[in-house]
Amino acid sequence: MYDYRSDTVTQPTDAMRDAMMSAKLGDDVLGDDPTVQQLEVRVAKLLGKEAACFVPSGTMANQVAIRAQTEPGDEIIAHEQSHIYEYEGGAPAALSGCSLRLIRSPGGLFEPADVSGSMRPIDDHAPRSRLLVIENTHNRGGGRIWPLDRIADVIGRARSLGLRCHMDGARLMNACVAAGVEARAYASHFDTVSMCFSKGLGAPVGSAMAGPEATVARARRFRKMYGGGMRQSGLLAAAAEFALEHHVARLAEDHGHAQELASGIATLPGYEIDASLVETNIVYFEVPHGAPGGASGVCERLAGAGVLMLPLGPRTVRAVTHLDVDRAGVSRTLEVLSAVPRASS
Ligand SMILES: Cc1ncc(COP(=O)(O)O)c(C=O)c1O
Repeated sequence: MYDYRSDTVTQPTDAMRDAMMSAKLGDDVLGDDPTVQQLEVRVAKLLGKEAACFVPSGTMANQVAIRAQTEPGDEIIAHEQSHIYEYEGGAPAALSGCSLRLIRSPGGLFEPADVSGSMRPIDDHAPRSRLLVIENTHNRGGGRIWPLDRIADVIGRARSLGLRCHMDGARLMNACVAAGVEARAYASHFDTVSMCFSKGLGAPVGSAMAGPEATVARARRFRKMYGGGMRQSGLLAAAAEFALEHHVARLAEDHGHAQELASGIATLPGYEIDASLVETNIVYFEVPHGAPGGASGVCERLAGAGVLMLPLGPRTVRAVTHLDVDRAGVSRTLEVLSAVPRASS
């Protein structure tokens, strides 16, 4: 099986399992798991922030950051295809009582004027514009990277308008490796940043949010309230540490495989893709017009041939490369992709 449904499907390597098994553990809710504490210090340093908090998922990292920086009745400005809006179960409304004002633009990236245009008037009738969220890399934007100067412009505008700023950096390290930019350089523009260890970095579970001491302390309280306080979680933090130590630079391989997959798909009759838009490990493409069953039909037939991908639109398929996909797998995948549109289901 070649599984491109997400970079979350990776299995911990033997070396990562060894690191987990030998981790020193405590009770993190009681504040004495040394491995979690070590990870939190490391993440805060990596992101140039005062503090960090280890959480079970990227969703929780985003949601405790949102809750810690907003009040019910506030409004969050974010892209219409952002993960916090599309894929977190309506959590900003359910958990923080916030509405979302959505920016529409191609690829998940936007301009300072989009932020200004999304602000509410200061008026008792209107929600209070409070927080801007940027996703880097942008998942639905095809793993697009926010250029640093564009972040500076957009966040500069947001700050001048009095907004707080959060970066959903679930795949921040992919952006860092592909763009050659340090994580703290991206993070310096934001009040809070989330990042995931369980995506391309290959850990089984775990994410973190980082920011000013007081904001992280508030987020930690919401983590507990949401049921995310974990006990001997050093076991998981050890996997995250291992991932930061050993799996960051190798993300370049995933990006190379995504590029090979994309340029291969571009040569297959009927498929549509702009390979130049593939900047990291996420590949979106259109299946040929008239392929039986459209994207879903193609994905079903791919699965029958041992290749798993996600249909995300009538003709749109997403494939994500990661630790468990190698070059031979990409070649084999291209052969299978070339055969499936013609096959009937
Ligand atoms: C951009 C982005 N943010 C947040 C998340 C949420 O992560 P989790 O699945 O760990 O909750 C994801 C998951 O894929 C994501 O792609």
